[in-house]
Amino acid sequence: MTTDPREHTKQTLAQLGIKTPDAIAQEFAELRRQFDQENINFIDIGVSAHDQSAALRLYWLGRKAGILSQITNNWLKTAPPELKPAVGQELNKLKAHIELVLEESLNHFKEQVDLQLGVPEDLSLPGIERAFGTRHLIRQTFEELQRIFTAIGFSVVEGPEIETPYYNFEALNIPEHHPARDNMDTFYIEGARSSYLLRTHTSPMQIRTMEKEKPPVRIVVPGKVYRRDNPDATHGYMFHQIEGLAVDTDITFCDFKGAVEYFAREFLGPKTKTRLRPSYFPFTEPSAEVDATCHVCGGKGCRVCKFSGWIELFGAGMVNPAVYGFVKYDPERLSGFAFGMGVDRLAMMKYGVTEVPLLFQNDVRFLRQFP
Ligand code: PHE
Repeated sequence: MTTDPREHTKQTLAQLGIKTPDAIAQEFAELRRQFDQENINFIDIGVSAHDQSAALRLYWLGRKAGILSQITNNWLKTAPPELKPAVGQELNKLKAHIELVLEESLNHFKEQVDLQLGVPEDLSLPGIERAFGTRHLIRQTFEELQRIFTAIGFSVVEGPEIETPYYNFEALNIPEHHPARDNMDTFYIEGARSSYLLRTHTSPMQIRTMEKEKPPVRIVVPGKVYRRDNPDATHGYMFHQIEGLAVDTDITFCDFKGAVEYFAREFLGPKTKTRLRPSYFPFTEPSAEVDATCHVCGGKGCRVCKFSGWIELFGAGMVNPAVYGFVKYDPERLSGFAFGMGVDRLAMMKYGVTEVPLLFQNDVRFLRQFP
């Protein structure tokens, strides 16, 4: 076959010396190969898909001088009866192939144009739904706690998660070998007892704030704290606290109790009652654990409060005068109270979450329950 299919198909089968269906199939295979090659060549030289398919359509399918018309006239019509079916079948196959390829490239061209012009799709279709993030339950709880305390004049400060033993322990009246360090003594940076550690509570910010600011002080300190706890349903190596500190010339135990009651009612509902149990923290004196009546049963006893009617909220107390010595505050003139809340605990209790890991696995099925 000559390389130019137009010249080639001007001749009849007899002139080309083709006498068998096999030879006919071969001729058509070669034509198909040539069509495909031209199609690719067009793509190579960068002719636009639209022009390309128009040119190819004219050349191969054109009514007057297209290759397929020439085949009909020169091959099919002049073929001896025994070869006609073979020519007809091959011709139809080739035609179907060419039409399919040209249609595909035309569709592709249309898509490109739509993309370039930004032609909108059906505007009545629903739009692309983007997943909205929400605030994590812990973040929400922080915000609620901050709202409760800023409403009565506290301001919010944050401090470093990497602390020195001085701020985390010593200045809080927890000397080196004090047993109160035992359940906190953890996560030192650069080898044992070096100069830095991950803070085990937010209380160091009591010291940092009083060092910097003159009384009166009224702050809450939200943040992450770290302890060497073995992870289980209610423990992780990191959790969140919010610290509170109020120091002034006239703060009494009544103010402390009032603030605690106000908080409990705001956080758990207006009917909530509180009680104080004696406790011990080196930096408060006296120290207390604050309990509230169970928000689920109202104090009657249920599974949530382990049938006691009470739930433990947080540790607190009046600032130990010994602490004032570390920040050069006058213990004769000043008094105050402090508290430290476990935010994860409070959130879990309030929203009925039973497993700490759920909070941090970032499973959207869990997180979406707290929109
Ligand atoms: N820092 C204490 C703790 O983490 C809590 C606390 C803070 C207690 C302030 C009293 C006053 O356990």
